[in-house]
Amino acid sequence: MRLPNILLTGTPGVGKTTLGKELALRTGLKYVNVGDLAQEGQLYDGFDEEYKCPILDEDRVVDELENKMKEGGVIVDYHGCDFFPERWFHIVFVLQTDNSVLYTRLEKRGYSVKKLQAMFSVKFSKFFMKKPWPPTSLK
Ligand SMILES: Nc1ncnc2c1ncn2[C@@H]1O[C@H](COP(=O)(O)OP(=O)(O)OP(=O)(O)O)[C@@H](O)[C@H]1O
Ligand SMILES: [Mg+2]
Repeated sequence: MRLPNILLTGTPGVGKTTLGKELALRTGLKYVNVGDLAQEGQLYDGFDEEYKCPILDEDRVVDELENKMKEGGVIVDYHGCDFFPERWFHIVFVLQTDNSVLYTRLEKRGYSVKKLQAMFSVKFSKFFMKKPWPPTSLK
């Protein structure tokens, strides 16, 4: 039987990596951090000047992961999810935490006030409310 593929998603700082690594340790499933994968393979498509971060090349990430996902038994960790093929996952977990806890965590991480304000702004929340996590295709 093919082992399950699991997606852990949710806003930055919510605890995806902590949970994903622990889960992999306890179950023996393979853990994939999409941010790290992109960095290792330079799977980027430009640079976002506003948020000062590289833009993920989603198609190349999907191509890179395709074979591994077919094998099964993979825990995928990423804050986005709408570009992953629905057929990959047996179950999707959208992690959440209290906003004040999250703010303190990201502040400790050294996020700038500008970045924090953007993340917790009404505009940003509305953006994510328009793009519910997970998108309909992954529910
Ligand atoms: N269940 C938890 N209880 C308390 N603290 C936690 C918990 N999960 C994670 N943390 C702490 O929150 C911080 C962020 O966790 P983590 O790096 O796992 O988040 P993340 O969702 O992977 O973030 P990112 O999307 O930026 O990679 C870390 O300092 C971690 O120790
Ligand atoms: Mg992480």
